[in-house]
Amino acid sequence: LITEVRLRKVLDSRGNPTVEADVSTESGGFGRASAPSGASTGEYEAIELPVDEAIANTRELAVPRLEGQVYAGDQRSVDQLLHEADGTDDFGEIGANSAVAISMAAAKAGADMLGAPLYQHLGGAFRGATSPTPLGNVIGGGEHASGGTDIQEFLSVPVGAPSVSDAVFANAAVHGKVRELLSEQGVAVEKGDEGAWAPPIADSEAFEIMAEATAVVGDEMGFTIEIGLDVAASELFDGEEYEYEDQTRTADEQIAYVADLVEEYDLVYVEDPLDENDYAGFAELTSRVGDRTLICGDDLFVTNTDRLEDGIEHGAANSILVKPNQIGTLSDAFDAVELAVENGYAPVISHRSGETEDTTIAHLAVATAAPYIKTGAVGGERTAKLNELIRIETNV
Ligand code: PGA
Ligand code: ZN
Repeated sequence: LITEVRLRKVLDSRGNPTVEADVSTESGGFGRASAPSGASTGEYEAIELPVDEAIANTRELAVPRLEGQVYAGDQRSVDQLLHEADGTDDFGEIGANSAVAISMAAAKAGADMLGAPLYQHLGGAFRGATSPTPLGNVIGGGEHASGGTDIQEFLSVPVGAPSVSDAVFANAAVHGKVRELLSEQGVAVEKGDEGAWAPPIADSEAFEIMAEATAVVGDEMGFTIEIGLDVAASELFDGEEYEYEDQTRTADEQIAYVADLVEEYDLVYVEDPLDENDYAGFAELTSRVGDRTLICGDDLFVTNTDRLEDGIEHGAANSILVKPNQIGTLSDAFDAVELAVENGYAPVISHRSGETEDTTIAHLAVATAAPYIKTGAVGGERTAKLNELIRIETNV
């Protein structure tokens, strides 16, 4: 039984405050987790409240419903009680930041009581055999760095890596090679929020650098490294057109542009190529390129099963980004993964641009047998997850 839920304000990787939760149980189980935070957040995400407000409201409304009332290992009931305590459909009262911290901390306390790794508690005894391929953000801009590229993230995708460890080191090597290539060109380099380089170059130049860096590192390491993108197109869309630094594209032009990029650079993954309300555009692009490329909905689906159901009906995308804090609980995130898999959509577990040392998403990816995880390439709050994947892989 959960005996105590403690909440505190801690730092995230951007230097902003976020919620940390400690969950303790009667039999000595303990779990601690903290909420991440987005910058290019989707319009339909659950609500992140200011931290002090989230903590105060949660202490008043939710903590009394949990303490002495529910088992930490009973994740569905914990998450159900969080919903009931909140009473809205978007965690507008207690905050999705408080909810997700408690939900994840309870899961860790449940695993602790079992003496099992978190991924095993979440996924069952038969999980842990497969590791997700990490998508490594190595060049970026958008809302994550002013002065960087228009496209938010250029991702290294080590599809041929024989192990998660090889994949993690490949992404770090591509990150290093990108810096070398930029320096050779005399381009000053700074990092964006997720640790990707945010150079003041055109997107077309970023593609050339990505092509070279992935090819060179792939040759060195002896396996194929492909390229992926997060366009984060809702941030470019002004309500009618997509506004790039050097030109404007209509929705049709945007679809054609992305389809051409897929062809030219053999992109294996494209996230949010269109605005978060454009199901029809997503469907058209998916039918044009979807056989060989994952078209992934992040702001489009916001880890929400209602939004995903709409997408499935339209044939929009063939992959979903899963961010537990977009929906507020692990149970809701699991429901999104399950609905996705049932309908042939690939689940991709993801960090946020504002992160902490929390490693829950690494375990979530293994527990759900997700084919991909997006959690950066370098930087302590990113390596926390990547190194946890290596630990999981080397312990089974
Ligand atoms: P965010 O960005 O965490 O700032 O929303 C990550 C993403 O768009 O995938
Ligand atoms: Zn995204």
